[in-house]
Amino acid sequence: MIKVQDLKKVFKPNITAVNSVSFELERGEIGCIIGTSGCGKTTTLKMINRLIEPTSGKILVGGDDALSVDAVSWRRKIGYVIQKAGLLPHLNVKDNISLLSKIMHKEKNFIESRVEELMEIINMPYAQFKDRFPIELSGGQQQRVGIARALMEDPPVLLMDEPFGALDPITRNSLHEEFWNLNEKLHKTIIIVTHDMDEAFKLGHKIILMHKGDIVQVGNKADFLERPANQFVEDFIKGQVHE
Ligand SMILES: Nc1ncnc2c1ncn2[C@@H]1O[C@H](COP(=O)(O)OP(=O)(O)OP(=O)(O)O)[C@@H](O)[C@H]1O
Ligand SMILES: [Mg+2]
Repeated sequence: MIKVQDLKKVFKPNITAVNSVSFELERGEIGCIIGTSGCGKTTTLKMINRLIEPTSGKILVGGDDALSVDAVSWRRKIGYVIQKAGLLPHLNVKDNISLLSKIMHKEKNFIESRVEELMEIINMPYAQFKDRFPIELSGGQQQRVGIARALMEDPPVLLMDEPFGALDPITRNSLHEEFWNLNEKLHKTIIIVTHDMDEAFKLGHKIILMHKGDIVQVGNKADFLERPANQFVEDFIKGQVHE
């Protein structure tokens, strides 16, 4: 479903944010990209969405080559939840969620019912929350609205940059549960960036550990716990790698 091959981003001659990243995800799979701050996670995600143009490499989604089509239309096929929810402060919840559909001139009735349906899914009742502005929501609620916004056009692929970051453990756990149930229903192919190995173990069918622009290991929980690729992986799992 998603195949990334030798993806590279050199911002300046002395800044290689992503050196060589390759991985594959099947339809319905969740991949978690994890690694220390500055290792190239956000840059990788933005290249897949073509918010950043890769220096070289290949991105295939369902057989389509990302780099051979127009960037704007590509981006509309892929849901993107940016780091820190990124809601527009001057728009209420309903308008934040439906922004892209409005830009695409979707029919009013469709927009209305889709927003209502999504707010059901994220567990924020429409009547209660639709007119609220981001500042009137908790951090966790803002992150949920960010997720609903990314789902509005029902994209087959969802990219999420630390969608559960900066939450207390209780809210985070309940959002994990909701998210897991959601994907059982929706069957999207999802990439989640996280700092948290427990979160990656919990949500990721596949875990992609990065360090300084390269992938150190790709695998599932058992691979990481029983067959760590090297000392860095072992130390990372033990929480001994600090940023
Ligand atoms: N526009 C840019 N121009 C130059 N360098 C950049 C740019 N964006 C990111 N970088 C650098 O590229 C590297 C990777 O950045 P990136 O944002 O991908 O890291 P990250 O893994 O997402 O980190 P974090 O966990 O802190 O969000 C960093 O060293 C960063 O300083
Ligand atoms: Mg980042």
